[in-house]
Amino acid sequence: MTLSAFDPQPATQTRPTTQPVHAGGVSPSAKVTRKILVLGATSGIAEAVCRIWASQGAQLFLVARNSEKLAAVAADLKTRGAAYIGTAVADLDDTDHHAELLSHAINSLTGMDVALLAHGILGDQPRAEQDFHHAAHILHTNFVAPVSLLTWLSNYCVQRRSGVLAVISSVAGDRGRKSNYLYGSSKAGLSAYLAGLRNRIDREGVTVMTIKPGPVDTPMTANMNVKKADVNKVAESIVKGIDKRVDTLYVPFQWAPIMWVVRHIPERFFKKLNL
Ligand SMILES: NC(=O)c1ccc[n+]([C@@H]2O[C@H](COP(=O)([O-])OP(=O)(O)OC[C@H]3O[C@@H](n4cnc5c(N)ncnc54)[C@H](OP(=O)(O)O)[C@@H]3O)[C@@H](O)[C@H]2O)c1
Repeated sequence: MTLSAFDPQPATQTRPTTQPVHAGGVSPSAKVTRKILVLGATSGIAEAVCRIWASQGAQLFLVARNSEKLAAVAADLKTRGAAYIGTAVADLDDTDHHAELLSHAINSLTGMDVALLAHGILGDQPRAEQDFHHAAHILHTNFVAPVSLLTWLSNYCVQRRSGVLAVISSVAGDRGRKSNYLYGSSKAGLSAYLAGLRNRIDREGVTVMTIKPGPVDTPMTANMNVKKADVNKVAESIVKGIDKRVDTLYVPFQWAPIMWVVRHIPERFFKKLNL
């Protein structure tokens, strides 16, 4: 893990003043300089979300495993108006270092209003059907590692009775399908975990937000021949959803009724479909 700060301001310069985003309210995000931690910051979706936050003057701490991509994203966000950017290079599969990483990030930001968890892998479904180690890798990256991060982050937020934990799950977690049930089950576990965490800590002033995108045009779906949503539109919806402290956000919104129907197809028909 490599920790660094990308802050061209002199160390003695006063940091921008911040206000926490309080429970139940709609934050006027354009006027408030928020402290935002982004895990998986080189993801196509996270990058698009960060471009909006940077233009609002947010303070950002970015974590990703690819140092070159991370440096390019950090430099771009700085030019777009981010008030502060810190970075850390870390493989988020390495749960043993999560506590150290998160406390460094939050010290660097001098607080945290929002955390966005965006890292994830699609994996290779046919390979995972034959190779348990690959199946376990998908489950670890998409489910176990987020649970480790959220255990630390939720305790941090509960102690302060504030914060938004926004986590990218997927519509794929709403029902297992033969074409991607390893990825889908990792996201189903994540969505169920988030629902339970929300049920426990929403009353403590902490928002737990489950983001469920349908297919989005990012590197993850580059080889998928399906209709994909524009990543910048998805990012706008995510930023608005976080401002409104939405519990569960389907993006684009049409996926909410679509997945309602998919969840309610009787199993005797569903098992015969090629999905
Ligand atoms: N695109 C879609 O259609 C779609 C739909 C539903 C949900 N999602 C979810 O949205 C999130 C963002 O995905 P995306 O579409 O933006 O795809 P993406 O561009 O492929 O981003 C995935 C990111 O996760 C990072 N990552 C994977 N494993 C990691 C690890 N062990 N440690 C640190 N970083 C790791 C990748 O880093 P590297 O760049 O270094 O590989 C990459 O930056 C994911 O959770 C994904 O499951 C995507």
